[in-house]
Amino acid sequence: MIGVLVSGEGTNLQALADYGLPIAAVASNRRDARALSRVDVPTAAFELADFDDRAARDAAMAAWLEEQGVELVVLAGYMHLLTPAFLDAFPGSVVNVHPSLLPSFPGAHAVEEQLAAGVRESGATVHLVDEGVDSGPILAQERVPVLPDDTPATLHERIKAVEHDLLPRVVGELCAR
Ligand code: GRF
Repeated sequence: MIGVLVSGEGTNLQALADYGLPIAAVASNRRDARALSRVDVPTAAFELADFDDRAARDAAMAAWLEEQGVELVVLAGYMHLLTPAFLDAFPGSVVNVHPSLLPSFPGAHAVEEQLAAGVRESGATVHLVDEGVDSGPILAQERVPVLPDDTPATLHERIKAVEHDLLPRVVGELCAR
């Protein structure tokens, strides 16, 4: 069973659901995330302000996901780093999708930074999550062209279209193991 962590729009969550993957629960660090209303499964928000620190928040979030029967966690636009309090609960079983060809352009502003750097090619990466910023072992990547007139919005849209295909396929393969 899959648990999905989200912070924003949730188009990748939608893609996972549309692919027919067994999503047990969705958690967010933001109560107002649009993603929380996309799928008809148990949802919960774990806002940092409601806890003493990150470790306490992450421990509570991991415990809740475990209660929902989650074995594999997918970060689908989840915008916080995870501490060992979370990662140790799902060893080797936390996956993220990122809008660049990692290890190039990690971090929260990858799309803007790629345009600013003038790269001709971008892409999507699915990787295992460790404590670093988008630094875990890479599972799959797909390339996306950068066009001369691209804005952050148009490039991100093109990358997301690839993510919506790549992420469910990789997660499906992990589930089949
Ligand atoms: C995606 O581009 C993902 O790679 C990045 O955040 C974005 C999330 O989009 N980590 P959405 O919330 O799935 O629409």
